[in-house]
Amino acid sequence: MTPPPAADLLAWYDRHRRDLPWRGASATPDPYRVWLSEVMLQQTTVAAVGPRYARFLARFPDLRALADAPWEEVAEEWAGLGYYARARNLHAGARALAARGRFPDTAETLREVPGIGPYTAAAVAAIAFGRPVVPTDGNVERVTARIHAEAAPLPGAKRRLDALAQGWMEQDAARARPGDFAQALFDLGATICTPKRPACALCPWREGCAARRQGMQEDLPRKAPKKARPIRFGVHFLAVDGEGRWLLGRRPDSGLLGGMLEIPGTPWRDEGWEAAEALPHAPLPGLGWQALPGEARHGFTHFELRMRLLTARAAGPAPQGMGWMERDAALAALPTAMRRLAALAA
Ligand code: ADE
Repeated sequence: MTPPPAADLLAWYDRHRRDLPWRGASATPDPYRVWLSEVMLQQTTVAAVGPRYARFLARFPDLRALADAPWEEVAEEWAGLGYYARARNLHAGARALAARGRFPDTAETLREVPGIGPYTAAAVAAIAFGRPVVPTDGNVERVTARIHAEAAPLPGAKRRLDALAQGWMEQDAARARPGDFAQALFDLGATICTPKRPACALCPWREGCAARRQGMQEDLPRKAPKKARPIRFGVHFLAVDGEGRWLLGRRPDSGLLGGMLEIPGTPWRDEGWEAAEALPHAPLPGLGWQALPGEARHGFTHFELRMRLLTARAAGPAPQGMGWMERDAALAALPTAMRRLAALAA
């Protein structure tokens, strides 16, 4: 099949591109900013990223500032954005890049940086350095599956869809503007070639779309049936001192919510907890812990977490590795799962 013309997509992009905070006027964007925006945009919507991107840059304006910052500050700035391993990878990557002295400028060399995966490497290479690669995210997978009427289901079809998308870069028009071509694909997927009810009448690639010719655009991409997510249970303990401050701990660096603040609690396990089993995990012994009504739920990639919250009045020094924190500061710095839990105490 002849590929749909890259020039048509680029002409559409020049008229309809979204005005997004990380799309400056400059033809040679700052690779640090491109990298940051791409990491933030993984698993988080464009609308949610906008204000957080500006705030992050105000605090860590360049690679050196991020590399020099202690992890605690980065974790706090990331709070609420979810998928915290991304923030850890970003920070580790910044340190490696700062030590290296200059930003690698190809997809292959970017992938050598710890924490930079294939998607991010391709996005930075195309957008910041004009390298002819297509960063294949979920939007691009959907557009590709439709244009080529690829009926094999995701996630198995990922490599095939990526290879088809790379094929579009063979065209001179795409190779002349790889960063714009990539972002045109993102915008097409976000605004026209949407998951439901795509606006084919407005699409610059409608003539070349095999799915549309067959009337199957709404059925693609196919997805393999999802396994039900298992449920895990935890009990957490909110100690409040006389000034209304909260006792918080920090999670181990590796694992879920790694290095983030937490309301201390039991491990998360497949069975529910009886009160008597949970109490030995309380951060301070001998307090009159009261169970609060309700349960907080948070979806992680591989399981759903259900948490109960107990609370007690406390005083005195924080145990080793924990600290007292003002309620508002705690709410700003806690990851979303923990904020949902804290809401039970509101
Ligand atoms: N999704 C991922 N990267 C993006 C970008 N640079 N612009 C718009 N949406 C995106």
